[in-house]
Amino acid sequence: MQVFVGCDHAAVAEKNTLKEFLIEKGFNVTDCGIQEGEKADYPLMAQKVCDEVLKNEENFGFLICGTGIGISIKANRNKGIRAALAYDEFSAAMAKEHNNANIICFGARTMGTQNILKYTQAYLDATYAGLTEEGKRHDNRVKMLDMD
Ligand code: RB5
Repeated sequence: MQVFVGCDHAAVAEKNTLKEFLIEKGFNVTDCGIQEGEKADYPLMAQKVCDEVLKNEENFGFLICGTGIGISIKANRNKGIRAALAYDEFSAAMAKEHNNANIICFGARTMGTQNILKYTQAYLDATYAGLTEEGKRHDNRVKMLDMD
């Protein structure tokens, strides 16, 4: 299982802090870019992370742009990607528990670094409910997300 992080120029500092946070927790983290001083279009950065996450079902990732909106829109155009723009700890946990989100998106200009770390922790602490008999309805719905 690998974790991928990516951002555009609006969120380099937040992405770097999040990356360190994940490394300290023992995750194998790959930084898909960008670095301070560089500029990048959020659709291209989203695609880089999506391509990596899609290589293994256990992989997941984090994408940050100014609002988290553009980068989540692009990520969700990939079949198999379930990108959630988390806006508090509850939504971050639910994104995992009910939606089995494999990418969590944040807005650097809308939530701040401490909130990003808090929401990340909530996501990491959550478990996907769809694998139990009781939570089967969630898995049925998640499978519908990729239906044509
Ligand atoms: C870049 O200025 C900004 O548009 C981008 O980071 C993001 O907020 C788009 O959704």
